[in-house]
Amino acid sequence: MMEPDKRRRIGILTGGGDCPGLNAVIRGSVKTAINLGYEVLGFLKGFEGLVDPVATMPLDLTNTFGILNQGGTILGSTNKGRFTAKVGLDEKREIDVDLLASVRKNVAELEIDGLICVGGDGSLSIAQAMFEAGIPVVGVPKTIDNDLRCTAFSFGFDSAVACAADALDRLHTTAASHERIMVLEVMGRHTGWIALHAGISGGGDVILIPEIDWTYENVCAKIVQRRQMGKRFTLIVVAEGAHPPGGGVVTLDGAQKDRQIRLGGIGQVVADEIQKRLNTETRCVVLGHLQRGGSPTYFDRMLATQYGVHAVRLIEERRFGEMVCYDPPEINSIPIRQAIDSISTVDPFGSAVVAARGLGVSFGDTAQFVNPFPESRVQAATHAERFNASADYWAILELD
Ligand code: F6P
Repeated sequence: MMEPDKRRRIGILTGGGDCPGLNAVIRGSVKTAINLGYEVLGFLKGFEGLVDPVATMPLDLTNTFGILNQGGTILGSTNKGRFTAKVGLDEKREIDVDLLASVRKNVAELEIDGLICVGGDGSLSIAQAMFEAGIPVVGVPKTIDNDLRCTAFSFGFDSAVACAADALDRLHTTAASHERIMVLEVMGRHTGWIALHAGISGGGDVILIPEIDWTYENVCAKIVQRRQMGKRFTLIVVAEGAHPPGGGVVTLDGAQKDRQIRLGGIGQVVADEIQKRLNTETRCVVLGHLQRGGSPTYFDRMLATQYGVHAVRLIEERRFGEMVCYDPPEINSIPIRQAIDSISTVDPFGSAVVAARGLGVSFGDTAQFVNPFPESRVQAATHAERFNASADYWAILELD
């Protein structure tokens, strides 16, 4: 181990909603930084700890001991307040220039050589604004939603999927015993990654996600089809951000100035409508924050640890404004700006959706009745050209 050098100091903060693996990142960064002779300062409550009043805790091998498998974050976090840089999908907010100037001053006075910002889309947008204001930041991608671009996976996602798949396993037996329809609402603000992966690995029959338009007629037809096959129960997984037929999202409260709208309730809406249409008992379970709590999976521990180590490497190499990313099998980096330009959504032609369709899973669209094993993306594009139609796959299928 190199001798500690007082002039070398790394800062780290965790922003946005918590998720399993944050502590594994902290531990990975601290161990690596200390091996390289840095001191490490943790900023508390996300970006809030950077300014007015500055709130920090020194991080060392003692107070990060044993946190690898602990959920949450020992630094605390927040996903609202004065540092908000993004509210909706595309609604960017300018962070106050005086606030950024205070952060720059505090970071300089604390002699921070590089600040690791661990967060999702919103937090990394703040990190980018700080970088543009001259603050030496590097990013680490975190979100259970897995909607960050330029990385195969953000940590936290696998743990959320494990939680949702476990819930489906449990619902399976009770649904079968009572011949019920069970709707499981999972997180996924703008994307259906959790619903898709949990739906496949937990044996869901219907998966409803924001990326694929669906109708109640198609969902009910799938349930009826299953009955005809002798299966008198159905498991439906719905992402909280799935659009009900007609569009929009189901929310728990309205627009807020300094935070995202709270989504929730689509599961019950779907359950009520199915019960009404099929006159069959339909129950809804909302998994909510259970998906964000608890111990990270081994995959997430591995990913988060590597992210933590490589974030320190970025600081060593003075590659500020970059974010570590998983480009299997390697951990690489890209400019943070690229990761926050837009989000990563489920590809309706991607291999996971194709696999689900191959299994007979319904996405609530017409494809299940037309062609359960859909064409490749290339074929779909060819069809689009041939019919001079838009690349809307389902329109294409209907034309066929
Ligand atoms: O972005 C992660 C996420 O868990 C979303 O899936 C969800 O919509 C949101 O955070 C919930 O945030 P909060 O805990 O602040 O309500």
